[in-house]
Amino acid sequence: MDFNHEKSRAMWPRAAKVMPLGVSSNFRYWGDEDTLFVEKAKGPYLWDIDGNRFIDYRLGFGPIILGHAYDEVDVRVREALANGVTYAFTQPLEVSVAEKIVAMCPAVEMVRLTNTGSEAVMHALRVARAYTGREKIIKFEGQYDGMCDYVLFSTYTDPKSYGNRRSPIPVPSTSGIPRCLHDLIITLPFNDFEIFETTVRRTWHEVAAVLVEPMLGNCAAIEPLPGWLELLREKCTEYGIVLIFDEVKTGFRIARGGAQEVYGVLPDLATYAKALGNGYPVAAFGGKREIMEVVGVGVACGGTYAANAVGVNAAAATLELLQNQPILETIAERGRRLQAGLKRIFDDAGIPAVICGHPAMFSPVIGLSEKPTDQRSWARSDHNYYLRLVRAAYARGVMPDYDPREPWFMSYSHSDEVVDETLNVMEDVVRAVKR
Ligand SMILES: Cc1ncc(COP(=O)(O)O)c(C=O)c1O
Repeated sequence: MDFNHEKSRAMWPRAAKVMPLGVSSNFRYWGDEDTLFVEKAKGPYLWDIDGNRFIDYRLGFGPIILGHAYDEVDVRVREALANGVTYAFTQPLEVSVAEKIVAMCPAVEMVRLTNTGSEAVMHALRVARAYTGREKIIKFEGQYDGMCDYVLFSTYTDPKSYGNRRSPIPVPSTSGIPRCLHDLIITLPFNDFEIFETTVRRTWHEVAAVLVEPMLGNCAAIEPLPGWLELLREKCTEYGIVLIFDEVKTGFRIARGGAQEVYGVLPDLATYAKALGNGYPVAAFGGKREIMEVVGVGVACGGTYAANAVGVNAAAATLELLQNQPILETIAERGRRLQAGLKRIFDDAGIPAVICGHPAMFSPVIGLSEKPTDQRSWARSDHNYYLRLVRAAYARGVMPDYDPREPWFMSYSHSDEVVDETLNVMEDVVRAVKR
């Protein structure tokens, strides 16, 4: 990278001695030479330990909806700390947070709090299996639902390994997944109406859940085609399958009620994390009363840190702000301007590009003239050029993720001035980096 990151470079060997790859999450490893270490973050900015300041569009992979170190949330958390953090009891504020989630998310009648999105997904799958008495899960290629072994298939692998789209091969994203779990997952291309219908007609009696990221937040924010989510809803109802929306990225970000509000399709269960706590570790899963009520009746769900006071206070403060102020509307307005500005920059440079997703989380996809509809069509985009652009943007202080599948995330702290500064940088970058 052509900016000074000597201190990060010196830190990495030390980190790598005691942590595999020198990080706590594989996604943070950018190479032995290029893995950055962070000093602090505030508002829309992040500073590395070399003192470089970046306008942050990674936002911790999406949780930061208000801005880093957002005072109104942090004050609430700080005050709560004086009263202890983990009680092995329920606190009244937890009930208020559950009430807020139920009020905001149209499909959610009952909810349980967890700490991470992975945990929320794991619990939702168990509930779906317990409710239906079936074991298999259908999920879609390019979708990532966390580190849970059951669904860590066909996420970020090269789609060439997925086989023919009529008979897709579920490809494990990691070693260490037991062989027997390979038999419990069916992976399908997103937005493929015909293949979904034929698969469900053939397998429904074994399928507990269809798990879908309603917008592919882990594959360039690919949007559902009109009728796609409706089809999933219709077939799940017809065959008694639990429809689960993984709203870990979309929830409390693209609308107060997430994707289910935006697209007007209600799942049976939904999972949340990220924007729910503006970066504090808090997550949730919830949905129809009839399904959620299996929890506790022969169905396990719990955790030592579930609904700890830090997460609960962060969620209470974040949801209160999102409910009462036009925060998401403002983010969307600025995001639209950023999307339009980026599109114009690519157009002016004669570079084919489409912008996928929602103004609060979107991806420029370069080299395609039509929006991709699944991971297979997205894979034909020009990743190498995107990576070169992103590296040049880092040198000028703008930081989207280097992985082209990871959307640009907006926060309320990304003001109009920040958007303008970003567009100026990107204009220079696109001019300087020839395709
Ligand atoms: C859609 C989706 N589901 C689940 C997860 C897992 O969440 P966590 O990293 O909090 O375990 C993620 C994480 O990026 C995600 O994007």
